[in-house]
Amino acid sequence: MFHRKHLPVVESTNDWLKKKLEEGTIENNLLIFTQNQTKGRGQFDRQWHMEPDLDLAFSFFIEVPKVGENFLPAIHSMTVCLALHNTFDRLGIPALIKWPNDLLAHGKKISGILLESILSGKKIYLINGIGINLNSARKDKQSNYPSISVKDIICRDVLAEDFIDVFEESFKFFYSIYNRDDHATILSAYEKNMYKLGEVIALKELKNNQILLSKIKCVDAQGRLIVEHEESLKSFHSGEVKWLM
Ligand code: BTN
Repeated sequence: MFHRKHLPVVESTNDWLKKKLEEGTIENNLLIFTQNQTKGRGQFDRQWHMEPDLDLAFSFFIEVPKVGENFLPAIHSMTVCLALHNTFDRLGIPALIKWPNDLLAHGKKISGILLESILSGKKIYLINGIGINLNSARKDKQSNYPSISVKDIICRDVLAEDFIDVFEESFKFFYSIYNRDDHATILSAYEKNMYKLGEVIALKELKNNQILLSKIKCVDAQGRLIVEHEESLKSFHSGEVKWLM
């Protein structure tokens, strides 16, 4: 499905792809990966740290139909989450998806996804950037946002290319469901594997800093989180609330 290119060191795999797409000098279906990313970026302008030579960062792109044609970024993002979830499952790792697109194992972050779109000529591309805590030892790290690695859980090293092999197969499977417009299957698979589904969590509503104790009910096709709060349903886009751990 993808042509792979290994970069011994790169600032950010997403930025590398973005630049090549803007220059128009890129082959189709390219997936680039590195185990040495020096300026990895996360969501909300955060930094994404990886241990050199141990962890894994990779990015690939897809061409997105024009606005108004049948493209739902939220369903695409869920498709990537499901592919990663399935990859971890096949490696024997019990991961869950924390809305909107974090992968947790044993309640700790094991992977992060950064989706970014760019316009190049008349085309819109969606860059899918994925960071995996692969072979670093993260067990003992204390932080507000605890992390864990693949190796912490399965107690063996996994080669970067082996991880990508499994991811590719999983992505191909879920992307074919996405491409048949079977969004209901994507939504229900996403919900089935959601972290804290049916449980009460604390959400901070960013427009008024109000803390809502809410029960997670489901997600909708726009990617909104639907929660029950004081016997009524509320829905939130990802930028509207912060999930308090
Ligand atoms: C997050 O959880 O905040 C998302 C982290 C995404 C990190 C990946 S690593 C590969 C790609 N290149 C980047 O600079 N960021 C993403």
